[in-house]
This record gives sequence, C-alpha cells and structure tokens, in this order.
Amino acid sequence: MSEPRAKLSNSQFNWPLPVVVALDQPWDAAQDWLDRLQGKIWGFKVGSILYMKMGPQIIEILKSKGFKVFLDLKFHDIPNTVGRATREAFSQGVDWLTVHGSGGPEMLRAAANEQRDEQLVLSVSVLTSLNQADLTSININDSLEDHFLKLAQLSQDAGIRGLIASPHELGLLKTRFPGSLLVVPGVHIDEPAADQKRSLPVSEALKRGADFVVLGRALYEAENWEIQWKKLCSSLGVTY
Ligand code: C5P
Repeated sequence: MSEPRAKLSNSQFNWPLPVVVALDQPWDAAQDWLDRLQGKIWGFKVGSILYMKMGPQIIEILKSKGFKVFLDLKFHDIPNTVGRATREAFSQGVDWLTVHGSGGPEMLRAAANEQRDEQLVLSVSVLTSLNQADLTSININDSLEDHFLKLAQLSQDAGIRGLIASPHELGLLKTRFPGSLLVVPGVHIDEPAADQKRSLPVSEALKRGADFVVLGRALYEAENWEIQWKKLCSSLGVTY
C-alpha cells in the first residue's frame, strides 16, 4: 500500500471556477468556447473524439491559451504501456488523465508513479453506462457499488490521486477516500440532459464535496451561452 498523501483539494489549484468543460464538440465550434471561457474555468476535458481529430496539438493549443488539460483517453493496457503513455502525456503538458481502475494494481501503480505535483492520474471505476446486468455478463458478481468501491480502493492503494465519481457517490467517497481529488461529471445547470438519469445541479455537487465538476451540454446546448454562464455563476455565488 502506498503512503497516505496530503489531501488535494481544488483550493490548491490555480483556477477561477472548479469547472472543467468537456470539449465534446466539432473543432470549429470548440474554438469558440476557448475564447468564451478563457480565464473563467480551470480547463477543458479532451476525449477520444477530439483527440483523434486534432492529435496532440490540441494539448499545445489549450495550454497556449492558459487552460489546464484533462486528457480523458481512459488508458487500459499492460502496465509498461500505460506507464509510458502516461509519462508521454505529462511530458506534453497534460495536467490530468484517466485510466481504468479495472486495469489492476500493477497497471495503476505504473500510471501513479508518473504523477508529479499537480499532474494527476484519475481513476475511472464503473462507467455509468454499465448496469448490474452488464457486470454479470462479464462475470462480475459483486454489486455495482461494491465493485465500484473495490476499484476505487485499488486505485488509492496504488497511489492514484484522483477519482471520477458520480454526484450520488460523493457522500460515500468523501468518507472512504478523503485523500482523493473527486472529479464529477453528470451535472447540470437548469435541467438534466435526457440521458442523465442521476444528475445533480453543479452547485449541489460542489456542496456535497466534489472538488471539480465536468460540464458539457448544459453549456453547449443553451440557447444563449452568456445567460447560461451567468446562471451557473450565480448558482455558485460568484460573478464573472
Ligand atoms: O453530460 P455532459 O454533456 O455534461 O457530459 C460532459 C462530459 O462528461 C462528457 O464528456 C461525458 O462523456 C462525461 N460524462 C461522464 N459520465 C457521466 C456523464 C458524463 O463521464 N455520467
């Protein structure tokens, strides 16, 4: 088991709002968001779709505009490959990246060993698209919650410093993993998106202990992004 580390929290990061915006947009549209949100948010999440379109230059573009980069490629491979890919991503300036907790202790350690200061690995436990029947179909017979907690524990023991969590797991995770940075997607501003069955408002997720939230469509799909942004800020008691 790794040594317990000092608790990370969003106050240790240099951010205007503890919000990560998911750049799940075609590049033309995504560029507008860089201008709109410069200086307002911690940074952007880059997933596999945008990364396949733009390649590693997307990291450089975002960093040159002062954004932090959360690379969400969910690594899951043999330990040597994941460790080296993590090192490469961090050497290119990535701030956070994700790995699958189910990659096992050695893979998790290989990624964790590459963490430096504020360059963190975050572990994904059970994807929210999976239900109990899906777990059973791959011969996992634990309850979803037990499985989730087991993978979160494995990740923490390996030295991984952050967890991706759903808003509803926050209470449990805050108590069980007080040293982990909790990054929470599945949040909304007005109403949850149709496919977000267990979403919470951003303000409520932060109140329940999220260190950062990940937000996408609540901003992109708003009729007027500036009004939506102001609504978000006023729900958090800040003006921007
Ligand atoms: O739903 P929304 O558009 O706000 O999602 C923002 C990002 O968070 C997306 O990249 C999505 O894949 C991710 N997400 C997630 N788990 C959820 C909901 C969203 O990883 N339960």
